[in-house]
Parts: sequence; C-alpha cells; structure tokens
Amino acid sequence: MSTTIDGLEDIVAAHSHICELDGKLGRLTYFGVDIHDLANYASFEETAYLLWHGVLPTKAQLADVKKELQAARSLPKPVSEFMGMLPKTSTPMDVLRTTVSALAMFDPTPDDKSPEANRRRALQLTAVMPTIVATWEHLRNGKKPVEPLADQNHATNFFYMLNGTMPDPAVAKMLDIVLTLHADHELNASTFAARVTAGTLAGMYAAITSAIGALSGPLHGGANEQVMRMLLRIGDVSKTETYLEGALERKERIMGFGHRVYKTEDPRATHLRRMSEELGQRTGESRWYEMSRRIEAYIKEHKGLNANVDFYSASVYYMMGIPIDQDTPIFACSRITGWTSHVLEQYDNNRLIRPRAEYIGPKNVKFLPLEQRG
Ligand code: COA
Repeated sequence: MSTTIDGLEDIVAAHSHICELDGKLGRLTYFGVDIHDLANYASFEETAYLLWHGVLPTKAQLADVKKELQAARSLPKPVSEFMGMLPKTSTPMDVLRTTVSALAMFDPTPDDKSPEANRRRALQLTAVMPTIVATWEHLRNGKKPVEPLADQNHATNFFYMLNGTMPDPAVAKMLDIVLTLHADHELNASTFAARVTAGTLAGMYAAITSAIGALSGPLHGGANEQVMRMLLRIGDVSKTETYLEGALERKERIMGFGHRVYKTEDPRATHLRRMSEELGQRTGESRWYEMSRRIEAYIKEHKGLNANVDFYSASVYYMMGIPIDQDTPIFACSRITGWTSHVLEQYDNNRLIRPRAEYIGPKNVKFLPLEQRG
C-alpha cells in the first residue's frame, strides 16, 4: 500500500472545475473568476449562479435566479412547527443540520435524481437556509419568526429576517460580500464530506447534512465563533499580548490562524480585515479591530501563522449585531452554494470515494469464547 498521509494533507482526491486555490500565491478563483473581482464587483446571487452553472449570469439570468431565490424563502409549515418543538438550548448549528435533513421529507419529487432536480434543490436550500437561521433566532428567544421578504436581495432579506427591521444598505452590502467570500473553497473538510456522501449516490439533502456537521467543528467553520469568544475574553486592547503569551505557553491553538493550504495571506481575510476596520469606524467601537490587528501581528511574529477567513469575520459579524453562535450558520448559508456545486459535479462524474487505512492495530489475536473471558 502507498504511504499513509494523516489528514490527507496535499492528497488530490478529485478532478474539479469549480475552485482553484493556490496556497503559495494566495490566489482563489471560482470557475476561473478571481475572488477579488467577485468581492468587489459581483453580488452573492451572481456568485451562486456562477457556482451552479460554471459561468457568470447575463442580466436576464441574474434576474431569474434572484426571482427564484426570493420565491423559495419560506419553510414548509410542518418544518417551522417542528423547529418550534426543539429545545430552546439547541445550538443553531444543530438546528440548521437537523432542519436541512428534515427538508428531505418535503421534497416535491424525491425520486427525481436528474441534474435539473438537483439544481432546483441547490437553489431551494440556498434560499431557505437563512430562513432557518433567522427562524431559530426568534424561536429560541420566545418570539414569532419574521416572514421573509419577496422583493429584496439575499443579504438584505437575511438581515431583515434576523432583526425584523431593514438593515443599513451599506451593512447589507458588507454581508453580501461576506457571503460571496465564503461561497466555495475547494476540498475543505465540509465540502469533502458532502462529496463523500454524494459519492455513494445518497441524495442532496443527505450530502448537505453531512457538510453542515463537518463545518460545525472548531478546526473548520466553528473557528469564527471561537475567535469572537477569545476577543471577548481578552476584553481590552492593552491585554492582548499578555493573553496570547499565556495561551501559547499553554500550547493552545489560536483560532482564526493557520491553514492547511494557504502559506500566505488568505485572500478572503484581506477583504474581511478592511470590513472589520470600517465597521469599527461606523459603530464607534474600534476595539475589536484594533485587538485583532495586534493578535495578527503577535501570531505572525511568534508562530509565523497568517489570519484565515474566520479571524476577521468574527469581529465583522459581532459589529453587525449577529449573535456569536450564529456565525457558523451564516458561513453555512454561504457555503451551501459551493457544497451544492460540488455535489452536482460529483453526481455528474461519480466514483465512490473510498480510501484505505493502514492497519496498525493488534494482529493474530486468539479468540476466547465469552465464558472464558471472566
Ligand atoms: N494556533 C497555534 N498553533 C497552530 C495553529 C494555531 N491556530 N495552527 C497550526 N498551529 C501549529 C500546530 O500546533 C502545529 O505545530 P507543531 O508542528 O509544533 O505541533 C503546526 O502549526 C501545524 O499544525 P497542524 O494542526 O498540523 O496543521 P493542519 O494543516 O493540520 O491544521 C488548521 C490546519 C486550520 C486546522 C490549524 O491551523 C488550526 O487548528 N487553526 C485554528 C482553527 C481555525 O482557525 N480553523 C479555521 C481554518 S479556515
């Protein structure tokens, strides 16, 4: 058997047209389009279309996809009632995973495995996941969920459903960029989980349920939440270095730093850093941005590690007024476009994903009948 690589580091496990990631140059593209161009000039809806169709939409195609997304925002009534029965203490990621899984049972054509039906599922899941996130925010606080708007873009409606009021357009645009930046990232752990599940020819909902589970861990999407908890623990900019000194002495991982692929600046962090600074100026609370800058400098100097996508997104979400444990669900509401793009690609040219393990356990163990084992 060939050499075992723990964590599959640098193993190329699929041919893909979707996302090119150059960890040395810090370059990221979706179907060949640079992430900086998408963040600067495109909308989340355009990005979603690109991920599902492989090309940027024309004006007419964009208008259609926006309309389709707007029309698919509501949850089936039994699903929102089911959410109302969940314990209020449930984490938003558990609720998101479980509710997406439940949606499989409300698919209008469950036996239709055609690419068209799966593309419809991709769009419907993208449309409805913000509704799940916002619905849970209200339900767990004993409030009535806010109905989605049918005439606003994805990011504006998301904010509206979370808060029940229309957001500042500039801040809604920032969320739109955040969603664009998180949309896809090659074979990250959750996308790989989605492709493994799809590779057995299980359905789209099963694949996305697997992906949401994988995203929730603190070494992956769950890091953004942990970053904000660290910033709050530090509390005061002047305490930053003392905190980090202690954390590194205790051999703790500093969340939001390091990456399996990037050995340079994560191109997504460049935009999020700027947004964190701008939100600090807008809210008059620049403490989180300043603290983040000092953490970044300290970790670069002492560990040689760069900030990843989760580092600055933590303070961005916090200053947008988003509850901390909703950070990772928001990541999921963006990554659903990438996950579904990869699932479509997997179905299109499927081969079961089934690696091997190098056996290092005991051998030739003599079987003792139960009565002789004491
Ligand atoms: N803080 C402190 N040390 C870190 C670190 C971090 N965030 N990330 C990596 N390191 C260190 C490890 O301790 C290890 O050091 P060692 O060789 O002395 O033991 C070395 O860097 C390599 O780490 P390793 O865990 O093998 O790298 P990986 O490629 O398996 O892990 C991550 C990549 C992302 C899981 C890792 O960098 C990490 O845990 N980061 C924090 C969580 C995070 O932000 N996740 C979101 C990623 S987008």
